[in-house]
Amino acid sequence: MLPSMRIIRSVAGMRRLAGSWRRPGVEVGLVPTMGCLHSGHMSLVQRARQSVGARGRVVVSIYVNPTQFAPTEDFSRYPRELERDAALCRRDGVDAIFAPADAEMYPGGEAPFSTYVAEERLSRVMEGASRPTHFRGVTTVVAKLFNIVQPSVAVFGAKDFQQAAIVKRMVRDLNFPLKLVVAPTVREPDGLAMSSRNRYLTGELRTQALALSQALEKARGAVAQGPKAASGLKSDLKKFIERQPAARVDYIEFFDPETLAPAGRVTRGVQMALAVFIGKTRLIDNAGL
Ligand code: PAJ
Repeated sequence: MLPSMRIIRSVAGMRRLAGSWRRPGVEVGLVPTMGCLHSGHMSLVQRARQSVGARGRVVVSIYVNPTQFAPTEDFSRYPRELERDAALCRRDGVDAIFAPADAEMYPGGEAPFSTYVAEERLSRVMEGASRPTHFRGVTTVVAKLFNIVQPSVAVFGAKDFQQAAIVKRMVRDLNFPLKLVVAPTVREPDGLAMSSRNRYLTGELRTQALALSQALEKARGAVAQGPKAASGLKSDLKKFIERQPAARVDYIEFFDPETLAPAGRVTRGVQMALAVFIGKTRLIDNAGL
């Protein structure tokens, strides 16, 4: 019989379990998440299993990380549903969920948490420009998760393209001994990129949210006709998106997928990313053109 999936709540417990697995030929794959799992997350779990094989172990971390949310953001109302998440993970053959409490990850009291990991170049643009402390929180918690679980493989989604690029850079710069895999964005049948925040989109807002994936398609179509000036294409796409009454563009950027350097001329192979408010909900999406 298969051993049942473990749900681990403490750092010490996760270290013990990971330690008990450590032997030659047993690879450990980690999928960091904030929970409220959907098929996008589960595609990363499948990718992790593929990578570590049947003898390997797959860990999903579920932790809504306070340090990556600004005070004005949705930390307190971010959906939390551990039981439902656990059922999905069990179904897909996850070996352990690591779901620590805040006090485990960020001990307060007499010796509060005071050490951060910050990537200082790729994290200045796009999401980093709109959310100045966000990536410092992400790299800090991901570094902690890597130290606690010590995976040989970690899987991230291309949905958060800049996040994956920054974590990849951190792994290289700080010599984390693991392989980073970036898996493709999973979409709803109508094109909307799956996201835990999609559940904020009620009624008419759900339809208006299609403007993001449609803008990516429109850009792809435009570039297929020949190179375009970034500024002109940006303003066309902004107009297109803001035809939706609840939509307000935060940014649209064209850039090199490796360096994230902005592209003045948009050609095939350039990456496009955008962030759009649909009502109060901020959505992001991206694609290679
Ligand atoms: P979260 O938003 O829960 O996403 C967890 C992982 O799932 C990320 O790597 C993200 O890119 C991936 N993902 C989300 N939606 C996806 C989709 N539609 N298709 C493919 N992959 C998708 O990203 C975070 O959490 C946090 O910042 C975290 C890395 C866990 C650090 O706290």
